[in-house]
Amino acid sequence: MAKNYVDLTVMLVSHEAFRRDIRRLEGAAARKDLDDPAARKRVRTGWNILKTQLAVHHEGEDRDLWPRMAKGLAGSPEQLSTLRELEQEHTLIDPLLDEVERAMADHATRPEQLGEAIAALGSALDAHLVHEERDGLPYVQEALTEKEWKAFVLDQRNSLGFKGAAEFFPWVLDEATPETVAKISSIMPAPLRLVMNSVWKPMYKAQDTWTNSGR
Ligand SMILES: [Fe+2]
Repeated sequence: MAKNYVDLTVMLVSHEAFRRDIRRLEGAAARKDLDDPAARKRVRTGWNILKTQLAVHHEGEDRDLWPRMAKGLAGSPEQLSTLRELEQEHTLIDPLLDEVERAMADHATRPEQLGEAIAALGSALDAHLVHEERDGLPYVQEALTEKEWKAFVLDQRNSLGFKGAAEFFPWVLDEATPETVAKISSIMPAPLRLVMNSVWKPMYKAQDTWTNSGR
């Protein structure tokens, strides 16, 4: 059996973090948090982080992962069409994010619109993540050599940069199980682990995202 050089932990934990934030958004809408200025500020902060992280994640896949996989899967039409579908789904999610944005702005006059917009975003995003987890990610190792996988990981690190990492790691590990925290920590260089625990996590907490109730 081929040596397992592909570790999808960061990818899968990111997917769980997207689902977690959608649940928080649904909870905030159900509690009418946007009616209260202090709670609204926390929801907006969490929402902005979710949008940023989703954009970074999808751009990274479209730019650095799907094209690499397409080369390796050139003889597999079915898997190539899955990659095209996954890329297409990213473009369908963007307008749904805009709809939530608009519904947030109009929530005082049309509160029902917000729940509908969040439900539409949540179901499209979850369907996309399930599709990717079931039909895309299992083929990463088949599609990429070890060298190409390492190049993809390096591309993601470079595009994230130090500033991006300062938000990504505490965000992705917010509410993660101790096992997941230990696994992600183990793939970080020791100095970064130290910075994460002593600087990035406290900075992220200080931003006060979503709401203190219902978490
Ligand atoms: Fe993904």
